[in-house]
Amino acid sequence: MKHANRSGFTGKQSFFVFIASMLLPLFSLAATSSSGDSNIEQVERGEYLARAGNCMGCHTTRGGKPYAGGRGFKTPFGEFFSPNITPDNETGIGHWSEEDFWQALHFGKARDGSYLYPVFPYTEYTKVTREDANAMFAYLKSLTPVAQTNPPHKIASPYDNQFLLFLWRTWYFKEGVFEPDHSKGEDWNRGNYLVQGLGHCNACHTPRNVWGASQDDKLAGGEIMGTYWYAPSLISSREAGVGKWSTEEIVQLLSTGINSHAVTSGPMATIVRQSLQYLSADDLRAMAVYLQSLGEKHSDEGAPGKTQPMPERVRRYLALGEPVYEKHCQGCHGKSGEGVPGVYPPLAGNRAVTMTSPLNTIRSVLYGGFPPVTAGNPRPYGMPPFQHIIRDNEVAWVVSYIRNAWGNLGSLVSPEEVDSSRGNEF
Ligand code: HEC
Ligand code: HEC
Ligand code: HEC
Repeated sequence: MKHANRSGFTGKQSFFVFIASMLLPLFSLAATSSSGDSNIEQVERGEYLARAGNCMGCHTTRGGKPYAGGRGFKTPFGEFFSPNITPDNETGIGHWSEEDFWQALHFGKARDGSYLYPVFPYTEYTKVTREDANAMFAYLKSLTPVAQTNPPHKIASPYDNQFLLFLWRTWYFKEGVFEPDHSKGEDWNRGNYLVQGLGHCNACHTPRNVWGASQDDKLAGGEIMGTYWYAPSLISSREAGVGKWSTEEIVQLLSTGINSHAVTSGPMATIVRQSLQYLSADDLRAMAVYLQSLGEKHSDEGAPGKTQPMPERVRRYLALGEPVYEKHCQGCHGKSGEGVPGVYPPLAGNRAVTMTSPLNTIRSVLYGGFPPVTAGNPRPYGMPPFQHIIRDNEVAWVVSYIRNAWGNLGSLVSPEEVDSSRGNEF
């Protein structure tokens, strides 16, 4: 009996395999010339997916070359800088293979095998399929290389330790591509894939523990590390759960940054401007269907109503805010906080104003803001910053006032809380 060699083929078979492998490059050469189109298609798909993941947003500094990196991220663990992911051989990913890219996106591992920090949301991107990852890689490789060396991370000791990062991963990182739930529809599954994966909504909308790890209650809302913004819960109808909105209303908010109930500001306006507005109608719809189903699960009908009569002390505090509102805010937001549809958001009945965390409301008043510029809302009206116009105690009064006027119900805000909400603008 003849012994099969290591490849499992007998001598004669090996010969044919050898001949075939010599011929193969010729066939594949012929194949590439006719697969030029499919390569273009892959690159285009990759560009679209990279938009959905907002890779450019993080990998570009203000006014810098797209994808050349260098944007800084302040966290309690130090300041991180995004790397150059253009195909430059020296300073970018020019020498990377598809597999290297997969190791980074799916496993959070650098090309040299070291662990990457989860400021890069590979904890979410791990759900992305290999096919989609390859498309994004093909797109990145098609970019013009940019030679740009970025600053090294400034990581506080002891977090600069790979072993700690290894432990962190063991506890908090679960690698794995998204698996569809066949009991649900196609839209729901596509939406789930985008929201939990490429869209990395969890990177902001999930509570984090002291180790910067997102908790199990996905999308339940949390303060974004290092930004002084609160990303509200997407599963509670008291915050940003959209179970009660129509699919069209959700699509409108995600693609234009504004609808009749809400307006996006700060980091969310950035996500709409840089990423969500470019998604196809089908993908936006799919996300809306999935988000709606989350809102349903946690509808909290039993929200507290205004039952207790207000103590005199509280009434006096709120009365301080009324003249500030009349002088500085009423012109846009209306006498009864009704706003102007599509132009100035209502403050009456607006859960962004009344939700437990007053952080975003304080920041809107201190720094003002603009909804995102999008094709659907090309010239948004903005709000001026008030930090140099009114003092911290007046900000506290007016914020407390709008959280409790016109049937609203929210906690009072102190001048100390206003001061501690200052920080770098996003
Ligand atoms: C929230 C900001 C953020 C987003 C969004 C983001 N990245 Fe990154 N990315 C980073 C940071 C910061 C690092 C550096 C991590 C480290 O060095 O530990 C990084 C690292 C990487 C690396 C490793 C590069 C190297 O030289 O080791 C790759 C590849 C990468 N990102 C690709 C992507 C792609 C593709 C997307 C979109 C799907 C994306 N990133 C979205 C912030 C981001
Ligand atoms: C970079 C951080 C960040 C990311 C990523 C992010 N969000 Fe947000 N989001 C926020 C913040 C902060 C707010 C609160 C400010 C506001 O209301 O616009 C918010 C608000 C929202 C709101 C409520 C808007 C309103 O005013 O009622 C919805 C809905 C929402 N996000 C959905 C999403 C979805 C879906 C994704 C993923 C595709 C996502 N967000 C990704 C930070 C983020
Ligand atoms: C010139 C018109 C204008 C004035 C004056 C103004 N606002 Fe606004 N306000 C806006 C616009 C436009 C937005 C949406 C901004 C954004 O998306 O970032 C907004 C947003 C807000 C929000 C966030 C609402 C949400 O749904 O997220 C709050 C809270 C707010 N304003 C309170 C105030 C208070 C309090 C004052 C007075 C101190 C004031 N505004 C004065 C135009 C105005």
